[in-house]
Amino acid sequence: MSARIIDGKAIADRVRAQVRADADAFIARTGVTPGLIVLIVGENPASQVYVRNKRKACLDLGWYSEIRAFPAEVSQSEVEAQIEALNADPRVHGILLQLPLPRHMDEQALLERIRPEKDVDGFHPVNVGKLSLGLPAPIPCTPLGIQRLLTEEGIETRGRLAVVIGRSNIVGKPVAQLLLRKGAGGDATVCVAHSRTADLPGLVRQADIVVAAMGQPEFVKGAWIKPGATVIDVGINRISDPSAPKGSRLVGDVEFAAAREVAGAITPVPGGVGPMTIAMLMHNTLECARRLSGDSA
Ligand code: GUN
Repeated sequence: MSARIIDGKAIADRVRAQVRADADAFIARTGVTPGLIVLIVGENPASQVYVRNKRKACLDLGWYSEIRAFPAEVSQSEVEAQIEALNADPRVHGILLQLPLPRHMDEQALLERIRPEKDVDGFHPVNVGKLSLGLPAPIPCTPLGIQRLLTEEGIETRGRLAVVIGRSNIVGKPVAQLLLRKGAGGDATVCVAHSRTADLPGLVRQADIVVAAMGQPEFVKGAWIKPGATVIDVGINRISDPSAPKGSRLVGDVEFAAAREVAGAITPVPGGVGPMTIAMLMHNTLECARRLSGDSA
């Protein structure tokens, strides 16, 4: 039987509608308009599309948003100075430094410059620590979106074996922390696999929930999936395909056609996890604006 396809676009639209209602009430209550600044360094084409979409999502909600674009050769100190200025700017509640950065830049040092209260990505060490302690803090957008997909779809995580493939700071590690936390969308038994994991197919075959986030096109095979399992595909990979209209197409980290024949539910690429990331960024920006304004409603 073919798996249920998880419609990330529809769920993201619902999340955005909720954020809009909450934001409108917040603005009416406080007079504060949420503001997000997106920093981008260099000319990575995928990143340019992502940052434009992030700003557009803010403008669609009637919020303040700007992109600050720097050439690839910009100095570390110039970006640091920009972050310091934004840390002090009361119109700005969220600062997002688009990754990856050019190789000469010290990514960690820049992330640590962002005031933790304005860290809408949840990448500052203070917020990473709070996530692992279960304290309130901005949570990385893609992991938060994955958890929301699972809860909105009514997929039980409690007591289930979740295998996360990939140990990045952006997705793998934080999604493992979220699935491990107590409460709805958590309480899973979590295993984080990576490029050095022995017998990955054997491990994935035991998983009730598979989160594929290692950035390798169609790496996870349909034959690895346990019948009825939930498959969350975080990959966005462009592969060449002479029969496709543009000569290329997007695929995930999972062999979709084969996996959907075995899984119980599966996210498509595109239209699965991707739309959730921006919806959760809007959620995080509003949360930062509320905390910075001392709004407790
Ligand atoms: N690059 C890929 N995903 C992300 C993300 O969630 N946040 C940032 N800042 N950069 C990214």
